[in-house]
Order: sequence, then structure tokens, then C-alpha cells
Amino acid sequence: MKLLNEVVLGNQTLKNAIAMAPMTRSRANSEGVVQDLTVLYYTQRVSTGLIITEAINISEQAIGSPYTPGLYNQAQIEAWKKVTQSVHDKGGVIYAQLWHTGRVGHSVDKNGNLPVAPSAIGIQGQQHFTSQGMKDYETPRELTNQEIKQIVKDYGQAAKHAIEAGFDGIELHAAFGYLPNQFLSESANNRTDEYGGSVENRNRFVLEVMQELVNASGSDKVGIKLSPTIYYNNIENNDPESQFKPLIEALNELPLAYIHLMNAMFPLDNYPHYPKNVIETFGRVSNHLVIANAGYTKESGEAELEKGIAKIISFGSPFVSNPDLPERFEQDAELNQPDPATMYGGGEKGYTDYPFLEN
Ligand SMILES: Cc1cc2nc3c(=O)[nH]c(=O)nc-3n(C[C@H](O)[C@H](O)[C@H](O)COP(=O)(O)O)c2cc1C
Repeated sequence: MKLLNEVVLGNQTLKNAIAMAPMTRSRANSEGVVQDLTVLYYTQRVSTGLIITEAINISEQAIGSPYTPGLYNQAQIEAWKKVTQSVHDKGGVIYAQLWHTGRVGHSVDKNGNLPVAPSAIGIQGQQHFTSQGMKDYETPRELTNQEIKQIVKDYGQAAKHAIEAGFDGIELHAAFGYLPNQFLSESANNRTDEYGGSVENRNRFVLEVMQELVNASGSDKVGIKLSPTIYYNNIENNDPESQFKPLIEALNELPLAYIHLMNAMFPLDNYPHYPKNVIETFGRVSNHLVIANAGYTKESGEAELEKGIAKIISFGSPFVSNPDLPERFEQDAELNQPDPATMYGGGEKGYTDYPFLEN
């Protein structure tokens, strides 16, 4: 089974071709510091080739949801050190996913400050989970050119902190409608400066951040997660191929570890111009190792690897409820089903208490 074969990622050899996809679990404290339960949670999942952490806020401004962790102060770095140390002690490899939520947040969890975004365009038709319940989105404040350049630096600083905390690498969360994805989309970005108005200008922010992350952490240690055909959080592209192919070509020029591509996840009936097969359409353009994500089972993941474009498959929700997912694949064992009620927030229930296979 290809899923269980070793894979070379950057300068490391992963024990299998299975990655744990990044998953927000909202179990940090109110200061964005991860707790000892989080050390246990990641250590339980160490039989996977690559762990990618939950999204981690690069700054206070980046925060979108309560109880999400950060990497912008020393207490947060020290807490993550316990996670990386424990994962490394058990022979695992762990990347930190870096997050700025942009307009996907609410002032009630941002000390009264409005969320910031490429343009003052709010999300319609959805609500946001806040510490005071579900709320309509506000119209975000448009970032100045100077503020954008500061955010690029904030990403670099967070990457340095991630390396200090012992992570093997960094993933930029540029998917699912968060700040980098907002820059990439005409529906969220109508800027007229160097960061908007053309394909090249919309791609500029992501490329500047990626260069900054490489400068901060070194070659072959940086990946990026993209979702070219996901319209959640009001992200729409007139033509995803003409936006994302040049982006992926430009990423080919950087010494990256991988690109992580998400399949559509939501029906594309209203988007007939969107490409149907993300891995074939966009994965083929990349010279970097491709990680394929979203909706895979053992069988479909194996079939994807057989096609030869993706070299690793990442699994999200299966890892919520199956800490030993690779062993379950190997033994053709049944999977535990995740409980949606305990996905976000709370303690050990639905976090560290899913059963392992009995030997
Ligand atoms: C509870 C939960 C939290 C998630 N949080 C994040 C996140 O912080 N960053 C991210 O890039 N994706 C996040 N995702 C998406 C997953 O990484 C993955 O893309 C998605 O679940 C599809 O993969 P799957 O079909 O194997 O679950 C989350 C998914 C779940 C279920």
C-alpha cells in the first residue's frame, strides 16, 4: 500500500505517506497558550508520517476565533516546545500551520477592533462562531499598504518563533477564505494598489509571505495550503485557473517542501466554470511535492497516490477520532466516527479519549 510507504519530504524521511491535516480544536487558554492535553493529543497521533498543527495565530490581530493558539509571545512558544519535544521523542515530524483570519473574525473576540481585510467587503449569508454565540459578520476595515507589509513581517516573526519552538517546518494557511485567500479572490479584494486589480497583484501578498517564511525558516521547510475551488466564506474567482496556475508557477521558483491542495468539498453546480479535478488541474503545475486533501478514504487516497501527482494524502476528520489511523489502514480495521459536538472547545472529551485499536 502506497499510503504506508516512506516518503522524502524536504530533508526528512516520513514513515508513511499519510499526513494529519491541520485542525482547529479551540482548546488553548484565553491567552492562546496550548495546554498539556494538546501535548497528549498530538503525541497520540505520532504514527502518521506528517502532523500539521491546527492553525496558529501569527499576531493578536490575526485572531478570528476564541481559544485558538498563537505563536507571537514567549509563553506560547514555550508551550509549543512541549508539543514538538514530545512528538520528536516518539519519532514524529510536525509542521506548524500559520494563520491570519483577516475578515473571518468578529470584534467581540478582538478587543472591540474590527477585523481587517484587503477590502471593506463583509461576508454575507454566514455567521461567525464567537465567545458570545453566533454573530453576523461585520464589514472589515481595509488594510493600508503599510499594514500589509507589516503583516508579511509578522508571518516571518511567527515562523522564527515556530523554529524556536522546535517545529520541523511551517505551512501557510492560504485556503478556506482566510486572509491570504482573501487577497487571491476578486470577491474579497478590489484594491487598486500593488495588491489588487490583476492576477499578478492579487498573488503578490501570498508570494511575499512565502518568501518571508523561507527567509525565516530556510529551504525545504515551508509548505502552503490552497483551496482553488472552495467558495466558503464568500471566496469566488472569476476564473480559478487563471488565478492559481500563475501562483503555483511562481511558487515553483521558491525552495518549498510542498503544496497542499484541497478538493472542492462543496457542490460546484453553481460554478460550472470551476475545474472539477483540483489535483489534476493544479497539482500537475507544481514542481513541489503535492499533498492531496479533502474527502479521502483509505481506498480513494490510495487511488490518488497511484495516479502519481500527489505523493502524500492528508486526512482531517478521520484523525479527530482515530489517533492510530495508519495502523487502522494497515489492518483494515474499522474507524471510530468523530463527534461533531466536541470538535471545537472543551476538554479531553472528543479530543484525547478516542480509543486506539486493541492489540
Ligand atoms: C474540526 C476541524 C477543524 C479544522 N481546522 C482547520 C485549520 O485550522 N486549518 C486548515 O487548514 N484546515 C482546517 N480544517 C480542514 C481540514 O484540514 C481538512 O482540509 C478538511 O477536514 C478536509 O479533509 P477531510 O475530508 O480528510 O476531513 C478543519 C477541519 C475540521 C474537521
